[in-house]
Amino acid sequence: MSESLLAVRNVSKAFKGVQALAGLEIEVRRGEILGLVGPNGSGKSTLINVVSGHYPADAGSILFEGRELRGVAPHRIARAGIARTYQIPRPFGQLTVLENVALPPMFGGSRSSGPRPNTRRSAGSNSPASPPRRGCVPMP
Ligand SMILES: Nc1ncnc2c1ncn2[C@@H]1O[C@H](COP(=O)(O)OP(=O)(O)OP(=O)(O)O)[C@@H](O)[C@H]1O
Ligand SMILES: [Mg+2]
Repeated sequence: MSESLLAVRNVSKAFKGVQALAGLEIEVRRGEILGLVGPNGSGKSTLINVVSGHYPADAGSILFEGRELRGVAPHRIARAGIARTYQIPRPFGQLTVLENVALPPMFGGSRSSGPRPNTRRSAGSNSPASPPRRGCVPMP
């Protein structure tokens, strides 16, 4: 079994009276592709927002490569290697399509260790040596 890359432990997040996440536990292993499914309002976006640092978690722990992300600024989390997308894209109008696509890995690719994104390679040649494990986590 490959090592844990992201470990969400007992994470909770409430918006006033709305408990969006309650004691959530999720683990993503290196090379794994994990889907997150659930009905509208079940907390999928809130989880992404909490992991990426846009919302602070009320409780719990978020470990990425063994490092605690709770309380870390969103831009530092991005630099650590966590990239996110949005449901409504807002591209930079003054940049080309290629520049828009290349920007996030360039910003988040300054880590001193680990694989670095190569924006010149085609998607087909960027596949890992072994096929990723695929899974799905249902939200309550
Ligand atoms: N910024 C916010 N302020 C107040 N309540 C919020 C906020 N963000 C999310 N919520 C509430 O938290 C709950 C979870 O919402 P969330 O957007 O995470 O669900 P979702 O699973 O992403 O839904 P969808 O499938 O519609 O995208 C909902 O009740 C939502 O109204
Ligand atoms: Mg959502």
